[in-house]
Amino acid sequence: MDAKEGQSDLVLILDYGSQYTHLITRRIRSLSVFSLCISGTAQLKTITDYNPRVVILSGGPHSVHTADSPSFPEGFAEWAESNGVHVLGICYGLQLIVQRLGGEVRVGEKQEYGRMEIKVEKNSGLFGTKRLGDRQTVWMSHGDEVVRLPEGFEVVARSQQGTVAAVESRGRRFYGLQYHPEVTHSPEGMETLRYFLFDICGVTAGWKMENVMDEEIKVIKGTVGSEDHVICALSGGVDSTVAATLVHKAIGERLHCVFVDNGLLRYKEQERVMETFERDLHLPVTCVDATEQFLSKLKGVEDPEVKRKIIGKEFICIFDAFAHDLEKKLGKKPAYLVQGTLYPDVIESCPPPGSGRSHSHTIKSHHNVGGLPKDMKLKLIEPLKLLFKDEVRQLGKILDVPEGFLKRHPFPGPGLAVRVLGDITKDNALDILRQVDEIFIQSIKDAGLYDTIWQAFAVFLPVRSVGVQGDQRTHSHVVALRAVTSQDGMTADWYQFDHKFLDHVSRKICNSVRGVNRVVLDITSKPPSTIEWE
Ligand code: XMP
Repeated sequence: MDAKEGQSDLVLILDYGSQYTHLITRRIRSLSVFSLCISGTAQLKTITDYNPRVVILSGGPHSVHTADSPSFPEGFAEWAESNGVHVLGICYGLQLIVQRLGGEVRVGEKQEYGRMEIKVEKNSGLFGTKRLGDRQTVWMSHGDEVVRLPEGFEVVARSQQGTVAAVESRGRRFYGLQYHPEVTHSPEGMETLRYFLFDICGVTAGWKMENVMDEEIKVIKGTVGSEDHVICALSGGVDSTVAATLVHKAIGERLHCVFVDNGLLRYKEQERVMETFERDLHLPVTCVDATEQFLSKLKGVEDPEVKRKIIGKEFICIFDAFAHDLEKKLGKKPAYLVQGTLYPDVIESCPPPGSGRSHSHTIKSHHNVGGLPKDMKLKLIEPLKLLFKDEVRQLGKILDVPEGFLKRHPFPGPGLAVRVLGDITKDNALDILRQVDEIFIQSIKDAGLYDTIWQAFAVFLPVRSVGVQGDQRTHSHVVALRAVTSQDGMTADWYQFDHKFLDHVSRKICNSVRGVNRVVLDITSKPPSTIEWE
């Protein structure tokens, strides 16, 4: 994908490890400006190759006084100044600019965390029509503070405690905010980003999903050419479906999809998903029923990681067989494989020191990509790799993927295998879980809550509890219910259902699912838990 995606200028974000960095990218994209995030310690050539119009230095958990604190490369400031590139430092990013350009940052006496008030001390484009003396609430989180500015810089706002809150050097085109404009706790932060990008930097906005789609189709056509064939494994999830629909639009019948029923799917999943593929999306899909193959390999396996590995391996075997069959039919090997990899999966980040992860190139390992064999001959096509989940949904809408499908909750690749704790083949666990899950999800839909919740599901626990049903003692299974809200699955809060709703679901489950006599609710956020139980 070209850096000038959809005719927009590029805003490049150098990531110094703030938990809000990806939010900056998303905020800027929401202003129709294309934005990418790379490691804060990237080499100068990497940065200049992107040819950005604006560079933003993110916040981070570091102090500029620490010996190994990450920083931008030698020559970066000079390159920006001589090429008319505007630079904005946020929090740690501001402190880096000040320190590297000859000012002074010291360990703060008055640390500022949380909501603070700042006061405008000088009219600046950063605050639009805000005048001298105007105040606004912002979100701060810093220990160090700026005490002396580099040449050509001026303070434009201070916090209620008198620390430097915003600076600018119009001549050198450097700007800095000691607070986080990207978080909603800074109510006017979005306005400041808007003023900065459009009024100060004059960026061109053209990041629209329609443009992204046209651009991607062009790229896919160019990559695949007019002869080659492409295969795609559809999971029934939003990402692989949107990726396949896009590739289908680009190369038509030369796309061949496979949907694997591994016996770990939800209630009536195969029928529901195949119907959408065929009836609504007209995608050519081969459905492979591999239930026996998967379940026999998983029999007796309790370790979650071993389960995941077995599933990944079996999946690849089926995939290979599919490619082989196609080769026989077409007389040539398919050359490409479509993956629905998203931006959060490939994003580079700069982790905090001591985290044991390298500074320069930490790329989160991806569930799908991680399972592919090293000697795989197929070349990858990842048309969504620069998009966030909500952007994929927007793209899906333009591609006429049915709304109901786009709003489906995420479902993990290993399916119900990671929702039945321990051996999945014991105690009719998968069947019980399917019934419980269906009741829970249908009740959520009936209550109009499905779209508010990021993900909801049931978990089959490997314990029995004593109960009393119809005056009889029972010693039956326990199931847990989990529902979370989240932006991107990286962090999550447990969803606080109304008690009446929970009472209704619990009764319905115990009354209709044979073998279950207890329902519990998971009330843990992520972290410390993960969303899935295994
Ligand atoms: P965790 O459990 O790590 O999950 O908090 C975060 C999100 O990722 C989904 N998930 C997976 N998705 N393959 C996938 O495609 C997997 O192996 C996998 N494991 C977890 C999970 O459902 C949640 O949305």
